[in-house]
Amino acid sequence: MADLFERLLKDYGPLGQHRERAHGYFAFPKLEGEIGSRMKFRGKDVIVWSLNNYLGLANHPEIRKTDADAAAKYGLAYPMGARMMSGNSNQHEQLEKELAEFVQKEDAALLNYGYQGMVSIIDALCSRHDVIVYDAENHACIIDGLRLHPGHRYVYKHNDLEDFEKQMQRATALIEKQKAGAILVITEGVFGMAGDQGKLKEIVALKKKYQFRILVDDAHGFGTLGKTGAGAGEAQGIQKQIDLYFSTFAKSMASIGAFVAGDRSIIDYIRYNIRSQIFAKSLPMAFVIGNLKRLEMLRNLPEMRKKLWDNATMLQEGLKERGFDIGNTDTMVTPVYMKGGVEEATAMVMDLRENYGIFCSIVVYPVIPKGHIIYRLIPTASHTKDDIEKTLEAFSETKNKLDAGAYKVEAIPDMAEAR
Ligand SMILES: Cc1ncc(COP(=O)(O)O)c(C=O)c1O
Repeated sequence: MADLFERLLKDYGPLGQHRERAHGYFAFPKLEGEIGSRMKFRGKDVIVWSLNNYLGLANHPEIRKTDADAAAKYGLAYPMGARMMSGNSNQHEQLEKELAEFVQKEDAALLNYGYQGMVSIIDALCSRHDVIVYDAENHACIIDGLRLHPGHRYVYKHNDLEDFEKQMQRATALIEKQKAGAILVITEGVFGMAGDQGKLKEIVALKKKYQFRILVDDAHGFGTLGKTGAGAGEAQGIQKQIDLYFSTFAKSMASIGAFVAGDRSIIDYIRYNIRSQIFAKSLPMAFVIGNLKRLEMLRNLPEMRKKLWDNATMLQEGLKERGFDIGNTDTMVTPVYMKGGVEEATAMVMDLRENYGIFCSIVVYPVIPKGHIIYRLIPTASHTKDDIEKTLEAFSETKNKLDAGAYKVEAIPDMAEAR
């Protein structure tokens, strides 16, 4: 019989296989200094485009003070135990109430993490006869939640309404045949790789034709989209028709935790049936108080949202003027599509970091098809005009080098940290 570890350690997986050259540089890099648009990477100053600190809250002095005061008062332990048993507090309930109001729902339930929360919501909502219809480009937390689902699931091509209807017809037919079960549709408010919004308006309009409930992961839209920051549903004028609204605190709130919001009865159902919360310690008080403060700022400082959008517009217009392909983003998430191999992409990223002081993330094969490179730029409210201008210049110069074949290398440059 084979030894399990021996088998795994033969290649370390599709990304792990590069670790000896990449660790600490292309993978697991360490950004140091105050979180913001300028940080240090391996001792060098860099302009950072990799953080979802959309509203620039991570280092806001009022937030730093609130976090520090709350940690000093409560430590990181209080309250102990799961919410249901002994880990509840008035502040946890207050945060739920304020979140629900912010996203225009009756009630909300706190989750310790977005990823775990989503996996567990899917588990709590669906059983054997239910059918889940979902977008092909949904985030890993949704895909992994589907793995727990014992019933059928039908995927539709990303944002493709024709295919969505086809899958809805299959799902409806199956449920009629089974004489049991119901349909849950799961999509995102903003797709984090390409930056396009989910077609929520069109999908909820189809409630007239098909019977289903919809769960929307709006991790990127929460706090950034819509008149009040209530997200993609608000931006598209259909927030009310979203049955379950989900977001993490890891992006515009620059914190930890997540929530799901909807009608009081279904949120109460989730509260009493979601295993990731029932069998886990509740969010520490310092996070709850820190998140209350962040939410207050989301409500009261619309100028942060305006700054984010001004920066996103300047960056995206600048890229388009210089002939870059940024796909069909209609949000601040800014992908830059180029052609090249994994080795070329890493050489180009190295040039950007070492010689231009630009730190951005790349997405390459096997996450996307071979021969394609996506640079993912995340503008935030804390970027400056100078950051954007320097970045546009650097992108123009390095793209010329890429096209001229200057980054053609045999192997991924060896940039690993000594371990
Ligand atoms: C769309 C989406 N959903 C869920 C998550 C997971 O949230 P968390 O980091 O709170 O686990 C992320 C990433 O943070 C995300 O981008």
